[in-house]
Amino acid sequence: MAEPPGFAVLISGRGSNLLALATAVADGRIPGRIALVVSDQPEAGGLDHARRLGLPWTVLPLARGADRAAWGRELDALLQGRAVEFVTLAGFMRILDADFVRRWPGRLLNIHPSLLPAHRGLHTHRRVLEAGEPWHGCTVHFVSEELDAGPAVIQGRLPVRPGDSEESLAARVQLLEHIIYPRAVSWLAAGRLALLDGVVWLDGRPLTAPVIEELP
Ligand code: GRF
Repeated sequence: MAEPPGFAVLISGRGSNLLALATAVADGRIPGRIALVVSDQPEAGGLDHARRLGLPWTVLPLARGADRAAWGRELDALLQGRAVEFVTLAGFMRILDADFVRRWPGRLLNIHPSLLPAHRGLHTHRRVLEAGEPWHGCTVHFVSEELDAGPAVIQGRLPVRPGDSEESLAARVQLLEHIIYPRAVSWLAAGRLALLDGVVWLDGRPLTAPVIEELP
């Protein structure tokens, strides 16, 4: 039987999405295997998950102001060496250089804590609260050269409740992240999801809007 496709998980921090992906691989929801966990931060909490779960991991430090293109080439070589077929960004807090992104067309996913295209970038929970918006959530999207701007695959939506704080919103959004990211990754691993000429295809049909998952 053919080996399930190997994918990489890039992290910078706590790694709760890494854990959600690893759990989904272990219980068979994702027909793939984690071929490598890469952190740019030696102290990332997510590395503890990788170690505990026996996942292959490595640290590729990226200093502020360092040559990102060179870092991208080094990362590429590591991924090729592990026969990685696609890459997932899971709380990876650095911007990948354009050449790296171009080398992984349709094979690079990110999860972002907002209903893109609203609130690209940082501090999304705060910005939703400040704007008094009724809905918030998270988006899994293909990575393009522009930050948080690639085509969306699936969104988790939740209503903002009276009295919500940045922390309470962050906690509920993360619950949704842990549902929608494994789902999107399972589609990619199973060959059900593709990006063709900038259009997302799922199960042989073009998506005109992201799939929506709602939390009460
Ligand atoms: C998540 O909220 C994700 O959307 C954002 O960074 C956070 C990472 O959390 N890109 P974790 O490290 O996976 O717990």
